[in-house]
Amino acid sequence: MPEATRTKRARPAPVAPNGRVVVAVPKGRVLEQLVPRLEAAGFDTDALTRSTRQLIREDAEHGVSWLLLKPDDVPTYVEYGAADLGVVGRDVLLEREYDLYAPLDLGIGRCRLSVAGPTGAAYPPTPGTVLRVATKFPHVATRHFQAKGQLVETIFVQGSVELAPLTGLADVIVDLVETGETLRQNGLDVYEDICEVSSVVVANRVGLKLKRAQIAPLLDALGRS
Ligand code: PRP
Repeated sequence: MPEATRTKRARPAPVAPNGRVVVAVPKGRVLEQLVPRLEAAGFDTDALTRSTRQLIREDAEHGVSWLLLKPDDVPTYVEYGAADLGVVGRDVLLEREYDLYAPLDLGIGRCRLSVAGPTGAAYPPTPGTVLRVATKFPHVATRHFQAKGQLVETIFVQGSVELAPLTGLADVIVDLVETGETLRQNGLDVYEDICEVSSVVVANRVGLKLKRAQIAPLLDALGRS
């Protein structure tokens, strides 16, 4: 057995007895951090990391099917039962209400949801001023500013949010900050943090009851990894 494979299988591999467990995972940054955790938990991630356009990847040995999704879509698949489990950032769960069970914080994908704007600009604004906020998280932003009594107009944007204050679209942004590099390179600063974010495992409530025997060993293995 090659050295790399031996290391990967060092822990007892969780096996889903009596049928598949379907797990929705986010493509992109978080997947890079998730793969070592899955390997430490005993999963075979060869299919998951293979460079193909297939959106369903199988770990037949351990009875797991992985669905590769946009991060925002993970909770939708789990809520409707198309997936039994999912891995999703708390930011996504804060923005929209889902009927999901969240049994495990994986401690990966750590970042912050923050208010940011041009370096040196006056913040908070003069009382009574309506602050224009560009964000992919309008509900999080509205809740945050309402609690402070700050009048806001939220403008929904999908990405490259940092452009909004640079072009006059908005005064500030509410966005994820991980290393802070994107802000720095665009002449922006964090004005205040709203909350910490990390990735959690979410489970379909009914599926968790009906497939507990299959799902529990997988959650245990992930929790110990
Ligand atoms: C996210 C986020 C910030 C950036 C923060 O964007 O929206 O722009 O990462 O990371 P940093 O603090 O390490 O620089 P993403 O890369 O997901 O792309 P997007 O702008 O298209 O949303």
